[in-house]
Amino acid sequence: METHAPRRLGDDWWRRGVVYQVYPRSFADSDGDGTGDLPGIIEKLPYLGPDGLDVDAIWLSPIYPSPGRDVGYDVSDHEAIDPLFGTAADFERLVAEAHRLGLRIMLDLVMNHTSDQHRWFQASRRREAPYADWYLWRDSAGLSPDGQRLPPNNWVSWFGGPAWELDPVRGQWFHHTFLPEQPELDWRVTAVEAAQWAMVRGWLERGVDGFRLDTFNVYLKHPDAPSNPRRRGTSAWTRQRHLYDFDQPDLPQLLGRFRALVDSYPGTMTVGELFAGPTEAAAALTVDRHLVFDWELITRPWSAGAFRAAIRRRERAFGPDRWPTAVLSNHDQPRHASRLAATAGLESERDRDAVARAAAVLVLTQRGTPFVYYGEELGMGDVAVTPDESIDDAATHVAPGFSWWDRSQSRTPMPWTGEPGAGFTTGTPWLKLGPDTATRNVQAQLADPDSVLGCYRRIIATRRAQRSLQDGSLAIIEQTDPDVLAYRRRGSGDDVLVAVSFGGDGGAVRLPPPPKGRRWRTVVGATRDPVQPDGDGHHVRLQGIDAVILVAEQRTA
Ligand code: NOJ
Repeated sequence: METHAPRRLGDDWWRRGVVYQVYPRSFADSDGDGTGDLPGIIEKLPYLGPDGLDVDAIWLSPIYPSPGRDVGYDVSDHEAIDPLFGTAADFERLVAEAHRLGLRIMLDLVMNHTSDQHRWFQASRRREAPYADWYLWRDSAGLSPDGQRLPPNNWVSWFGGPAWELDPVRGQWFHHTFLPEQPELDWRVTAVEAAQWAMVRGWLERGVDGFRLDTFNVYLKHPDAPSNPRRRGTSAWTRQRHLYDFDQPDLPQLLGRFRALVDSYPGTMTVGELFAGPTEAAAALTVDRHLVFDWELITRPWSAGAFRAAIRRRERAFGPDRWPTAVLSNHDQPRHASRLAATAGLESERDRDAVARAAAVLVLTQRGTPFVYYGEELGMGDVAVTPDESIDDAATHVAPGFSWWDRSQSRTPMPWTGEPGAGFTTGTPWLKLGPDTATRNVQAQLADPDSVLGCYRRIIATRRAQRSLQDGSLAIIEQTDPDVLAYRRRGSGDDVLVAVSFGGDGGAVRLPPPPKGRRWRTVVGATRDPVQPDGDGHHVRLQGIDAVILVAEQRTA
């Protein structure tokens, strides 16, 4: 098997490259069962490779066997491939084919919890060696006045209700931050850590180039499990100060041991999903080759002021020495074409596409490694999935007062063509297709340079050509027009300016003086025919919601 990682961008790819998130159930179905699979992904690799979108790595959401209570994030065997997605041989072929095209493969590691169907949990609840203490088992705190057994402490589940479930088999409570079907491992047990590292090493040996770590800051809890202090809030979750159920002070040492293992395979990278924490917490846990998602960009409305503030906060938090990520959408959030347009009251398809294109320029030119969620490059929006069509069990568990998003809406199948089944499946898709699939699909957008896909392809190509867009510094350029945002990326030799207008009327972007002997020239834009700076070179006037990238070029005589 070809396990060698591609040399493209070298070992520095974790900082300079673009990562594409594939949600395997929804990418491409090769066998007509309505669910995407690994052979389907292999077939579509050229779409992502150097002659296509030209990304550097693919992160696959979980592909392990799972009862599916949390759609794959409840894993029952971390070392195998769910037959729904294919075989071990398919995975081997996926890694080899991806590497042949210069693409790296990253897996999603769900190590905080397992499915309650995992053999470790089944053995643990029966107190079988060596698994008896592998989960967070605790006795009741006592009896309620009416004789009911009380949970060990006041911790609550993110999805609502207590974070403890009384197991009838063992007669003790087990902890779960998420669903009761996702019992939490006790990472303070040495054998648990050793088993996890053995599993990680197994995937590295199979040629994997990196991992996304699911809710990694929840691995450790306070060893004595004290109740969290109370505070004012609007839900059971926010009415507690979460001092003891995650973000424990010894997490960095645990991560250090993980990094030592991953770093023994050169050219690998990992990215942690920060659970319920601010940008500063993400920055504090970031080190070279081990990134942490922060949620600053994903939570902002469509306005120049909001994005300027987000960028400033990120730059302050990460500083020059820590490398951020840049994310606008993922499998847990509303799709940003819908979300951002809605925050600005933009309803027409035309405006939504304009937002999607301008947002592409934003996400691909931040200081930080960009992550593109499948379909965002088509401007895919959320699909109105009704509760009885939805496949997101967690959404139905949510306690009153907890605002939750039915994630099926942003996990619908990728539209490849305008045919019935959208070129995704010949069967019945596991989630319904978007209503605009006949027109919004890969085939149609490849033929239209002004499409959102056309824009992503151009901006990724420009990113590849301009080194400072990959790893240069970022400085905001102050503007008088409140509807525009501009920033400068400077690094190894080149000097690049990004200008975005957020309002429907456009705006004049003030350009900083270029270095001596140079002038600003627009090299690419959100649309095929981007506007050039005014004759005096001091401004670029954007029409409507738009974005351009300018380069300081040598003046010719
Ligand atoms: C984070 C994942 O992104 C989300 O989809 C999942 O529900 C939770 N972790 C729990 O596993």
